Amino acid sequence: MHRVLVSAPAKVNLALRVGGPRPDGFHPLDTVFEALDVFDDVEVTAADELTVDITSPGDAVAIADLPLDGSNLAMRAATALLDRRGLTGPGAPGARISITKRIPVAGGMAGGSADAAGALVALNKLWDLGFGADELKRIAADLGSDVPFALKGSVAHGQGRGELLEAVQVASVHAWVFLTRSDGLSTPAVFREFDRLNPQAGDPAPTTDLRAALESGSIDDIGAAMVNDLEEPAASLNPELGQMLGQLRADGLHAILSGSGPTIAVLTDPDSLHAIAQQLAARYPHTTVLAACGPAAGAHVREAE
Ligand code: C5P
Repeated sequence: MHRVLVSAPAKVNLALRVGGPRPDGFHPLDTVFEALDVFDDVEVTAADELTVDITSPGDAVAIADLPLDGSNLAMRAATALLDRRGLTGPGAPGARISITKRIPVAGGMAGGSADAAGALVALNKLWDLGFGADELKRIAADLGSDVPFALKGSVAHGQGRGELLEAVQVASVHAWVFLTRSDGLSTPAVFREFDRLNPQAGDPAPTTDLRAALESGSIDDIGAAMVNDLEEPAASLNPELGQMLGQLRADGLHAILSGSGPTIAVLTDPDSLHAIAQQLAARYPHTTVLAACGPAAGAHVREAE
């Protein structure tokens, strides 16, 4: 095997309930993830060294600030795989990891996690390491809270810090309009603000209503059950987000902050997608509008030779 191409999806949280911090500093979550048909491609080719490069077709996504060293999440995924097999030092296999980015950066859509999941699947195959699905899941969880979901895809109920996943059945296709922006929000900063605003937080609230709506309800039922506990802290750090969410809801749209933001997600039925995307692009010219549908597959091999 000398080349493997994997696609890995963006995600949105239809519900994100957050509890008070655990002793390890992470926050217990009760969340519902949906994978979207916006994919980063991770292509790996055999090489002597381990390197990563990133391109964005048509400059759709701002990639200038992404690290290209060992701190890059795809590079960390590669190193984690090699470490687990004791393949370190001289003679360890290398690879050129080439990422084609379509998922907005630092937007709360788990683009870095998708790249890590893509690298795990691609390099496991390129290097013939033989890790099974459960082992990959464990390695993924060590890399980041959203990486296991990027492997799994579709729709899942997430608990723990987001890594304990159970599949959720959904009755329909969901269309989404995302309003993305270049001034990203730092996930740890949003969680810290959550702690400041909720010093007494206990366990996260359950996401039972949302999951019931997904299994049998209409788009309006799902929209009515969407909730994100990180919305208040994100809006506290960036008040414009709170104003936009308020306006969109006043217009009757099902708007929610995506993950820790600053991307705003608007749920709609597929027939209205095009019109709503155009309307929001005209109304919020300082944002970039991205239309997507879910659920979509988790990280999957598209080509291997
Ligand atoms: O797991 P991940 O590396 O994606 O998390 C990034 C940061 O987000 C963590 O360092 C932590 O500050 C915060 N976080 C959290 N609780 C979670 C997930 C993330 O506090 N469940």
